[in-house]
Amino acid sequence: MNRALAETNLACVVGARPNFMKMAPILRALERHPRVRAVLVHTGQHYDENLSDVFFDDLDMKRPDVCLEVGSGRHGEQTSRVLEGIEALLLRAAADGRPFHRIVVVGDVNSTMAAALAAIKLQVPVAHVEAGLRSFDRSMPEEINRIVTDSVSDMLFVSEPSGMENLRREGHSESQLHLVGNVMIDTLMCLLPRAKSQDALTNLGLEPHGYAVVTLHRPANVDEPETLRGILDVLAETAQKLPLVFPVHPRTLERMKRFDLQDRFRASTGVRQLPPLGYLDFLAITSQARVIVTDSGGLQEEATALGIPCLTMRPNTERPITVEEGTSTLVGNDPARLRNCLEAVLCGTYKQGRSPALWDGKAALRIAEILAACIHR
Ligand code: UD1
Repeated sequence: MNRALAETNLACVVGARPNFMKMAPILRALERHPRVRAVLVHTGQHYDENLSDVFFDDLDMKRPDVCLEVGSGRHGEQTSRVLEGIEALLLRAAADGRPFHRIVVVGDVNSTMAAALAAIKLQVPVAHVEAGLRSFDRSMPEEINRIVTDSVSDMLFVSEPSGMENLRREGHSESQLHLVGNVMIDTLMCLLPRAKSQDALTNLGLEPHGYAVVTLHRPANVDEPETLRGILDVLAETAQKLPLVFPVHPRTLERMKRFDLQDRFRASTGVRQLPPLGYLDFLAITSQARVIVTDSGGLQEEATALGIPCLTMRPNTERPITVEEGTSTLVGNDPARLRNCLEAVLCGTYKQGRSPALWDGKAALRIAEILAACIHR
């Protein structure tokens, strides 16, 4: 049989930092299936060296086969550039006689939703990895991205039971749903030994379990001067007792400068303000932290897998298992609540958690099996 006809062509799309660690193990697992050809497409939503390039090295991930270079912009602009780029790519591949049989998208960023929409309009089926998560908070752009992406996907790979319930309630049929576990934890388990052997802690002068890690980037926490100031004040106060490492997202840095908060915070005792870190350095510091303070979705899950207390600076979460079984507590953006939770951690009364079922490092293998078994039309 003609080999080109026998191949299943998958377009695997990434765009922003949290996508890379989810796609890396899927690409690796697909390599075990010789009849699957996986083409890696980077939309370019994140383009800075330290938000994008460094991850390809750290994750041992092949360089993208296609780069769309959409860059930053308002949501509509960014989404429309990805839509146009992915549509053109799919049309060109079909015209060249090597059509894509399926597109694979991960997570909930603008690139995820836009790529899924472009594909389904051309009747290219969509597989969504990390499907079904719902915060029920439609003011979050990621929630809109999750709802739209799931609604046009016919293969839904789910990381925790709440996702299955949400998708059933939204009318997806049982045959579309696959509870496979968490691909981001695949990457974490695979790279943890290497991360811990890095010199990251020594270079920063930190002792294992003797410091806190902070990340913040969500508009609800960083776009209002009063809110950001309240959070930073509690963090600076805590840093006097427990050194605090803060790799700062470009958006947050811009706001700190604009609100005139940057100089005072950076100069506070115990504060180590850093640029965004690569995957291995970041895992080295999170895995050995005493406590993590964050508004990231992914870091809540990583903290749970690592058994590190996680104070989540959000009023809700689309990942309830991290609160119910894991180490996360929802703190909102209330400075007093943050201070109380940090004290509970410091005096040893904070809860213990456990790692959820199927977060076992093998989620991508399960996904690749299912993708490879699906014969294209
Ligand atoms: C995006 C995702 C968010 C994810 C986060 C992780 C959406 C809606 N949001 O948010 O879910 O948690 O990534 O980091 O998709 N910028 C740079 N360099 C870059 C990229 C962005 O400086 O390489 C700056 C630009 O000023 C840009 C701003 O960051 O306007 C926001 O970037 P954008 O991709 O729109 O969203 P994130 O806040 O990064």
